[in-house]
Amino acid sequence: MKSPGGMLLTGIELDRSSPIPLYRQLYLQVRKQILSGRLPGGTRLPSTRTLCKELGLSRITLLNAFDELTAEGFLAPRTGAGTYVGREWEGRNAAADTPRKPPRLSSLGQSVLSLRSEHFGGMSYASWAPECPTSFLPSHPAYDAFPLPVWRRLMNRHLRQPTKAMLGYGELKGLLRLREALVEYVFDARGIECSVDQVVIVSGAQQAFNILAMLLLDGQDGVWMEDPGHIAARIAFQAQGARLVPLRIDDQGLDVQQGLRDCPDARLAFTTPSRQHPLGTTMSYARRQELIEWAGRGHGWIVEDDCDSEFRYVGRSQPALFAMDQWQKVIYVGTFSKVLYPSLRLGYVILPEALVEPFCAIRAVMDRSPSTLHQATTADFMAEGHFLGHIRRMRALYQARQESLVEQLRRHLDGFLEVNPVVAGLHLIGWLDETVDDAALALGLARQQIYTYALGDYCLKRYLPPGLLIGFAGTPAEQAGEKVEALARALEGLGHHL
Ligand SMILES: Cc1ncc(COP(=O)(O)O)c(C=O)c1O
Repeated sequence: MKSPGGMLLTGIELDRSSPIPLYRQLYLQVRKQILSGRLPGGTRLPSTRTLCKELGLSRITLLNAFDELTAEGFLAPRTGAGTYVGREWEGRNAAADTPRKPPRLSSLGQSVLSLRSEHFGGMSYASWAPECPTSFLPSHPAYDAFPLPVWRRLMNRHLRQPTKAMLGYGELKGLLRLREALVEYVFDARGIECSVDQVVIVSGAQQAFNILAMLLLDGQDGVWMEDPGHIAARIAFQAQGARLVPLRIDDQGLDVQQGLRDCPDARLAFTTPSRQHPLGTTMSYARRQELIEWAGRGHGWIVEDDCDSEFRYVGRSQPALFAMDQWQKVIYVGTFSKVLYPSLRLGYVILPEALVEPFCAIRAVMDRSPSTLHQATTADFMAEGHFLGHIRRMRALYQARQESLVEQLRRHLDGFLEVNPVVAGLHLIGWLDETVDDAALALGLARQQIYTYALGDYCLKRYLPPGLLIGFAGTPAEQAGEKVEALARALEGLGHHL
């Protein structure tokens, strides 16, 4: 049997083509063996001459590695008696051999983990690449059409003169200039009148949902949730222990009467009135009044998620719910993820005055203000007129992309998938026959690099036919044909007859 010192030699593999110097590779591998217990404390190592010969290393390379390991206490040379693994590494064997137990998590940690795996079924959507040529991922804007040269010029202006304001901690509520630009924008675009003090910049709408859940919900509080609805917001509320009350969507939007029957004293209602996510319905005026009345007369709050109201292709947008609220019960959440790009991680919350202080208190505990450099660039982009121009261009582009995708889907998949143009947003719904399992279909397509989302994933109760969410913003009109043909081939490969 080999001695542990002899095992060192078999365990070491040096890669001579690697940019990592050989002495560093040797150092890292010996250290790993000691830490894992494979080379126990007190083990005598083979002589330097043997090691040099066996590993094909020069003496200087070996000594460089051993000097570093000695300086860090991993090795202990004994004069005239060779080099040993330090005594303090004794007893690591057992630890290395015992199977790893899952980490002990808090109840919040456990519940978020199980909610995510329950939802995503062990599948990682993170690897679903929007840039893949066959991807129809919804919720992504057109990255190929982002005005990068303008963005770069604006950002460089700040980078050329790095100031304390740009590099230091930012204002807790977010950069004042950005908040001022937003006050003006939401007044013009969404009919919202608010003061700059009511606006807080967050790192995306998702952070706002989490902070609001922490701020407003206790365990078992009822939350009216659109069904189908925005999954990530749902998980943020569930993570705080909220009890979800699924409310159906009809042609006027969220069914408020169902909410009044099922859980009149809910603490919060989550809604996407300008474009119901994912179905695309616009909430009617009457439904908005009903919802606001419910909140105003009781203890409920309304979270209005207005993530992509900019992209409306037919008619004018209705004013935001926030603009109709005379009770100060609506919290408006906006994001730059769709209108600019998601990795920017900038969103904003417009709060009723009474919630500003408490919201900022939680925000300060969780995080600081997002990158000032990005906030300043966004503020310039808005103040210098690029923002509205970009929205106008993207609206026209998305409309054209939607038209050609609908045409191709109807040409190639009629009878299998029913699609109708949407009046707003970045995706279509491809309705399927009742017998099709949409989750299994989306998964089967994803295995062939064709990415869509299953409507079923968004549903709390099943009352709708199955469907696929098919994003059109990332599909240039001239590529729609070949992408749909690839989708048709993949469907046939999965055994569907078209
Ligand atoms: C309905 C809805 N709201 C909000 C967001 C934006 O989230 P964030 O600002 O965290 O990127 C998304 C993202 O896909 C969404 O689908």
